[in-house]
Amino acid sequence: MAGGVGIITGGAGGIGLATAHVVARQGVSVAIVDLPGPALDRAEGELAGVGADVRSFACDVSEFDAVAQCVADVLAWRGRIDALVNAAGVIQKVSTIRMQPRDWLTLIGVNQSGVFNFIQSVIPAMTANGGGAIVNVASIAGVIAVPGRAAYNAAKHAVIGLTRSYAADLAGRGVRVNAVAPGMVDTPMTARYIAAPQFREALRDSIAMGRAGQPDEIAEAIAFLLSDKASYITGAILPVDGGFTATKTFAPSSQTEFDPA
Ligand SMILES: NC(=O)c1ccc[n+]([C@@H]2O[C@H](COP(=O)([O-])OP(=O)(O)OC[C@H]3O[C@@H](n4cnc5c(N)ncnc54)[C@H](O)[C@@H]3O)[C@@H](O)[C@H]2O)c1
Repeated sequence: MAGGVGIITGGAGGIGLATAHVVARQGVSVAIVDLPGPALDRAEGELAGVGADVRSFACDVSEFDAVAQCVADVLAWRGRIDALVNAAGVIQKVSTIRMQPRDWLTLIGVNQSGVFNFIQSVIPAMTANGGGAIVNVASIAGVIAVPGRAAYNAAKHAVIGLTRSYAADLAGRGVRVNAVAPGMVDTPMTARYIAAPQFREALRDSIAMGRAGQPDEIAEAIAFLLSDKASYITGAILPVDGGFTATKTFAPSSQTEFDPA
């Protein structure tokens, strides 16, 4: 990946920022994309401070025209696009039965259309260079249903559908498209939950590894899927969830021998 250019949406925080650090250390020029504001400026400063070749781009991923302009701005900056990580996302703030149509549209706009908008916009530049790699940040909510979170679940299931569809459509043009499906990760998005002792206890019981993941642990998986080490992997959905989906069971994860009798 060294010498390449990567776009990372949601690059101002959490998993996106951790990914920017990992790929920048590997010699990639990173375009971090996020909503305008101090977090984006801070992230750019933080990355530049450790020697990354970085530029921030303020853009709402849910707006197709803004995304097309953002991609044009990245091309004007470094002249090529080799990698794309779709990490921008929002949490579903209200439970499904209280959700209003505008809540649905906002969430689908960012978490689902945002992925379509960026992939669709980078295809010409990526294929012009002979190919590239795309990683979408889905979720365990793209594989199972998190109760009370229909819009989030639907959008993440759609991200997995988009990943497989674009993988099929772009394989002949040298572009690999994969997704990671993180479990509970300790980021600004989830800090409020993880801070609650009962929630941490529930995590211990429901995750095989007994803990939430750290953003770096997702970033390393993303960097692998972007790299040439993953040259024969496309259309894959990689769970990075401490064994959560592998072991979803009635028994607490700490109980290694489950005997109901
Ligand atoms: N934290 C978790 O437990 C977890 C688990 C599974 C999947 N994910 C997914 O990982 C991705 C990153 O989440 P995170 O945990 O790092 O959260 P985060 O809140 O730390 O980061 C998300 C980033 O997306 C940005 N963003 C939100 N709306 C945007 C928009 N319209 N345009 C541009 N940027 C926008 C935010 O400003 C923020 O910087 C999301 O897609 C999330 O759904 C997170």
